[in-house]
Amino acid sequence: MKERIEELTNILEKANYDYYVLNNPTITDQEFDKYMRELILLEEKYPQYKLPNSPTSKVGGTPIDKFDKVTHESPMLSLPNAFSEEEIESFIQKIEDEHLKISYVCEQKFDGISLSLVYKNGLLVRGATRGDGLVGEDITHNVKTIQSIPLKIKKAIDIEVRGEVILSKKMLELLNEERKTNGEALFQNCRNAAAGSIRQLDSKITAKRKLDAFIYHLPNPKDFGLKTHYESLEFMKSLGFKVSDSTKLCKTKKEIITYINNLIDKRDLLPYDIDGVVIKVNELENQEKIGYTSKYPKWAIAYKFPSQDVYTKLKDIIFTVGRTGQITPNAVLEPVIVMGSTISRATLHNEDYVNGLDLKIGDTVIVSKAGDVIPEVKGALKERRDGSEKDFVMIENCPICDSKLIKKEGLIDYFCLNDSCPARNINSLIHFASRSAMNIEGLGEEIIESFYNEGYLRDFTDFYYLHQYKEELKLLEGFGEKSINNILTSIEKSKANSLERLISGLGIRGVGVKNAKVLAKEYKDINNLRASSKESLEAIKDIGPTLANNIVNFFTLNKALIDNLIELGINVRYKGSKEKHNDLVTGKRFVITGTIENFSRDEIKNILEINKGIVSENVSKNTDIVITGKNPGSKYNKALELNIQIWDEEKIKEVLSQLNKE
Ligand code: IVH
Repeated sequence: MKERIEELTNILEKANYDYYVLNNPTITDQEFDKYMRELILLEEKYPQYKLPNSPTSKVGGTPIDKFDKVTHESPMLSLPNAFSEEEIESFIQKIEDEHLKISYVCEQKFDGISLSLVYKNGLLVRGATRGDGLVGEDITHNVKTIQSIPLKIKKAIDIEVRGEVILSKKMLELLNEERKTNGEALFQNCRNAAAGSIRQLDSKITAKRKLDAFIYHLPNPKDFGLKTHYESLEFMKSLGFKVSDSTKLCKTKKEIITYINNLIDKRDLLPYDIDGVVIKVNELENQEKIGYTSKYPKWAIAYKFPSQDVYTKLKDIIFTVGRTGQITPNAVLEPVIVMGSTISRATLHNEDYVNGLDLKIGDTVIVSKAGDVIPEVKGALKERRDGSEKDFVMIENCPICDSKLIKKEGLIDYFCLNDSCPARNINSLIHFASRSAMNIEGLGEEIIESFYNEGYLRDFTDFYYLHQYKEELKLLEGFGEKSINNILTSIEKSKANSLERLISGLGIRGVGVKNAKVLAKEYKDINNLRASSKESLEAIKDIGPTLANNIVNFFTLNKALIDNLIELGINVRYKGSKEKHNDLVTGKRFVITGTIENFSRDEIKNILEINKGIVSENVSKNTDIVITGKNPGSKYNKALELNIQIWDEEKIKEVLSQLNKE
């Protein structure tokens, strides 16, 4: 058994290395799961044979009570910054005045959290944060969950290496989606999310965050007979560490500047955040001659990318009410152009976010937008205040129906809980009719709002009674026989929609297209779903306790609504996953860039995914189609460069309307 445990440990360790370090999977997920299950069972039965580098430890272990302090063997230094070409030039000049033959290593400056890893006899014994540079915190339990960090390196030596823990842009997006569903504060960027994830007492939480780490520094290179920094990188790579491939040896200033400009172009396409380029003297002998200050090495510099920030006035903060009653503060900005698009609004998420940034109305604020990311207010220029600014005050009553807002314990958002709040109702109706839900063609937001204001629509069932008021509706401004007939036909057609469309349309908090599909498939009939218990819901993969609660509560509160929908003849049965095959979309990999009139990014993604298309963030040689709207980002250039098929706005609209015809 001992041999089999060893064999499985080796197979899985190699699979992890191929996948997470080399980005080159060598076995399938199914094979990996099969070996993993076998190893878990064997280790349970024969714990005495479990190896210290067992890949089963990557899922995290027992939580710790507190972080122990650790003193670093040698200080973990920071780097001096440069913000312009001139500053790089003067850095080079100073060095070259004194030393003749110098080469430089240019590296990405990863925007994460610095990390020290200590190995004894080839086994990972300690992971620590930088702390104040001299004393950091012991985070070994969390570091062990990071798939790209080897628990055992390829030589049985004692060594310390340093690098950066990062969290990918994709993980930030997923994490924030989940936090939003759970009413938790959102992470502002990948670095904050990485910091929050690595400083967890419970390593099972860290494991779920799927952190990654790049290694870029070897504190004692001479112990291993190395002569240059570049050799240290190669050496660390050969031991099994993840060392960036983008590193480049440069001889001249021109080469350094070219490296920087290339990275500026590529930056948005990387799956993780970088905030600059680190330039290091390559020869260790030269590094020693050049020396250190108390804080920095003088042989390296961090060039920080020009900021993509702009300044503008925060004219007002207004509040919107979502369909769940969630209140969101929004910044009303003096219109400003950021990276090619005009911005006049930006979400401020919640009260804590505004207070955290200490924003006042009238402030000059910093707005940033990176690539295709939604613009964000990052802070205020407090030194520009003249005393005329007004404090932000969170409202206590709903801006639409005036009912008292409620903040549930432990949550950060305020809610309007008035079931007849017009803002909530209109947004729920809009959601019900939208493309990713019941897809009622011709019923746009404004029409729903006007039917609501005229009193024809109150809840979802009212769509199906509209035909009784056909004559009255025809008389409303902007409508006629033809437009009303079209609307009524689409409403009638929507009765036959799939169960998943109906579930998604109900607007249960946290249940989007994906979960609606899971629920439809699992329960097959709305009557089974409404009768399900919290426990049975939680037993489904993808459904957590918060979501299970939301679902049970929804059906408890909306019994009559569901009864009426059934009575009206709306399909409530699962029709199977005949969904959906479309030659243009199924199995194809898409990347979306720029804005498409009338469609949100999420909507397009949903529709493509329903048809088994794969939507990813970054353009690579595996991308099949790049969808390009107005103001496309650098993804468009990358698509041209790689000769990838491009769909313009016309084309995607045509495909979407075809796909939407069920
Ligand atoms: S070298 C003695 N290389 O940037 C050399 N640092 O602003 C120490 N960082 O504290 C660091 N990418 O956390 C180095 N390729 C890279 C880096 C890098 C990111 C971080 C590191 C450091 C901070 C300084």
